[in-house]
Parts: sequence; C-alpha cells; structure tokens
Amino acid sequence: MKRDIQIFTDAETLAKAAADFFVELSQQCIREKGHFYVALSGGSTPKRLFRILAKEPYRSTIDWASCYFFFGDERYVPHDHDDSNYKTAKELLFDKVQCPTENVLAVPTNGETAQADAELYERTINQTLEADRPFDLVFLGLGPDGHTASLFPGTTALDEKQKKVVANYVEKLETWRITFSYPLINAASHVMFLVEGEGKADVLKEIIDDDNDNHPAHNIQAKHTLHWYLDGQAARQLKQ
Ligand code: 6PG
Repeated sequence: MKRDIQIFTDAETLAKAAADFFVELSQQCIREKGHFYVALSGGSTPKRLFRILAKEPYRSTIDWASCYFFFGDERYVPHDHDDSNYKTAKELLFDKVQCPTENVLAVPTNGETAQADAELYERTINQTLEADRPFDLVFLGLGPDGHTASLFPGTTALDEKQKKVVANYVEKLETWRITFSYPLINAASHVMFLVEGEGKADVLKEIIDDDNDNHPAHNIQAKHTLHWYLDGQAARQLKQ
C-alpha cells in the first residue's frame, strides 16, 4: 500500500484537488472496467467537494451514468432528515447533475431494525458491484476522536472482520449508525481522507506522526493507495 499525504493551502483548494482526483480515477476505471464504484463520506467536510462536482467543468466532464455512488456510513434517520448524509449529497450534488437515480444507492434507514437495513445494504453492494470487485474509491472524514465513517472508538463495529456493512450503536451520541466495516473499506483500491480545520490537527498528528492505533482511523488501509488530503490548519502539527 502506498500512502499519499498532500497538504493544501485552504479547504477550497483541497476540495478541488479531490474533485480532480475523482475525475481522473473515474475516467480510468470507466475506460478500463466500464464502471466506477465510489463511496461518499458524511458530515460537513465533503460539502465543498459536492458543490464543486455539481458545477462546471466537472458537471459535464464526469460520466455520471457510469458511476455508482454509495455511502460509507449513514445516520439511522429518514432520508429527508437534516442529519442524513444522503440528504446532504442529494441537495448539493445529485439534484444538480444528470446522474441516474438508480446510480445513487442510499443506505436504507426505514426497515425493521438498523441490523436488517445494514444486511440489506450489504446485499445491494454485492448485487451492484461485480463479484469480488472492490470499491475503486472510498472517501472518508476524520472526527476529533479519531473515528472515521461510523467506526467510533469503543464500538462493536471495530471488531467486525467478516461483514461488509454493520449497524453500530454509538453510546456517546445515543444513536444508531450504519457503516462500512474495516474489511470493506480496506479492500478498496483507493481510500481518500478529506481533513480540514485546526480541530483535527491534534488527532491527525497522533495518527500520522505518533502512529497511535487507538484511533479507529489509524487502522484504515487501501489496496493501492491511502490518500490524506489535508488543509494547512489540519496539518499544522505534522512533522513530515
Ligand atoms: C458522519 C461521517 C463522519 C465524518 C466525521 C468528520 O456521518 O458524520 O461519516 O465519519 O466524516 O465525523 O465530520 P466533519 O466533516 O463534519 O468534520
């Protein structure tokens, strides 16, 4: 696994670089394999990226009909709830581009239980991606506590070694989440962390410089390259 750490002057430059990488990798995957399979991250950091992809030149450059969008994690709320990662991506990106609705695979959150919906999402992934085809790209964010996706410290999802998608109760948030597991994320060709702001500087130093594996994000890998796209504020404590 290669590691690619890039530090950008500000959050907008970071997001544009991520959009450029998305275009380059999607064109390569579509050319070589016919499709591009990507998982989006949640929270607020990816909003800039979504807004950039929804505008020219990206809007008309990307072959949306050959891209399949999943979500690396989701809050267990209705798709029209303000906390929904799907709602954020739909409003900022998918409502503004010509992406077939069937190409956007939201995490189901209206089933009997979070566990049942996690199992359903795993079946959807297996039915959409060709057999044994990993994700081409998984975007991730980073929480100040070292969580990524919904792999929070001290939660059961950290121990999942078989399943691709699991329901995960997060005590400190008093809420259920659905998240990709380590096996699914770490099987991806490319994994790209998007991290901005001084609030992430401490945890980033502990993960990258101090090699602190108590942080869930520290245990993320990628088959080809693990990318850390950082702005200057988030990277200000890094030695390297
Ligand atoms: C979520 C995310 C989560 C997020 C980090 C960073 O559903 O909240 O997937 O892992 O990426 O908490 O969030 P911010 O980008 O809002 O700082």
